[in-house]
Amino acid sequence: MTQDVSQSTGDSWKELAQKSRGYKAGSTTQSMVARMNEIWPFSTARGLFDNGCGTGAVISAILDAYGVDIPAAASVLAGDFSQPMLEVLIEAKQSKSTASEPAWDRLEIRQIDAHDLSTIATASVSHVTGGHLYFLLSDAQMALAETHRVLCPGGVLGMTSGKGSQHIDTLRDAFEQTKPGTKLNLIQEPWSSEEGVRGILEAAGFVSVEISLVESEVAYQTYEDFAETLMLMPVVKNITASYEKEECIQVQQYLTRNLREINPRAPGTLKGVSIIAHARKAPTSSKEI
Ligand SMILES: C[S@@+](CC[C@H](N)C(=O)[O-])C[C@H]1O[C@@H](n2cnc3c(N)ncnc32)[C@H](O)[C@@H]1O
Repeated sequence: MTQDVSQSTGDSWKELAQKSRGYKAGSTTQSMVARMNEIWPFSTARGLFDNGCGTGAVISAILDAYGVDIPAAASVLAGDFSQPMLEVLIEAKQSKSTASEPAWDRLEIRQIDAHDLSTIATASVSHVTGGHLYFLLSDAQMALAETHRVLCPGGVLGMTSGKGSQHIDTLRDAFEQTKPGTKLNLIQEPWSSEEGVRGILEAAGFVSVEISLVESEVAYQTYEDFAETLMLMPVVKNITASYEKEECIQVQQYLTRNLREINPRAPGTLKGVSIIAHARKAPTSSKEI
């Protein structure tokens, strides 16, 4: 049976949040944000919401590149259902100098479940981002309906997903080596193909859907530390929760060995392909295009 990814709680992300401290936006996030700015410039934004913000890679990329341009009247909000993730972002915000980075001062950080955006007014924001979020959700349609509701007419959604990657393959192999038939599937259809993502966004009522693929890289320092990090992913913890201690150790050992086989030297990087999607809520007048 294929293992499901959609059964995590905010607390499931606690250890990963600690490991992700200082995590910076990679090429996928940078490309997603840059294209969003071309579609609707942040300099004329009515409000921004980073959905499933985690430790803040996406909102940091926006604020660092465009923060000073965002109009004073626009709200800037980052939300995640995991309090441990938010605490890392709160720390990052506190460490910013308000003199040199005033845009960070305006960032509001709140615990929000992507399925229920009822604390955000209908049609109140022009930009919503969802970096590696929607494929994790138990009811992505509900979350997309909520995203669509909070966007103003013409508003833009920028989101990312994964088409495939060496680290996901390595993880799946380690489980098969330990317990054949586990069939770990981290990113399931419709989220792992261009047609799938386009289809689910259009079904949610979005228009002008653009899909692009970008090569991505995950960097790591040591095989052991990276294997430990992968073991902390909620989907992995869901599976290993029913394993004996010895079996968990075995998965981690296979993982470490597989990583070493891919790259005989550490530090190293693993390659992947990400899906970037942009989509709009239909405009009601030509001014909103
Ligand atoms: C892979 S991380 C991505 C974080 C960030 N968006 C980025 O691109 O680096 C996924 C994030 O989604 C959050 N998440 C998962 N389910 C969620 C839900 N139902 N509502 C809000 N956030 C959720 C997790 O807590 C985690 O921070």
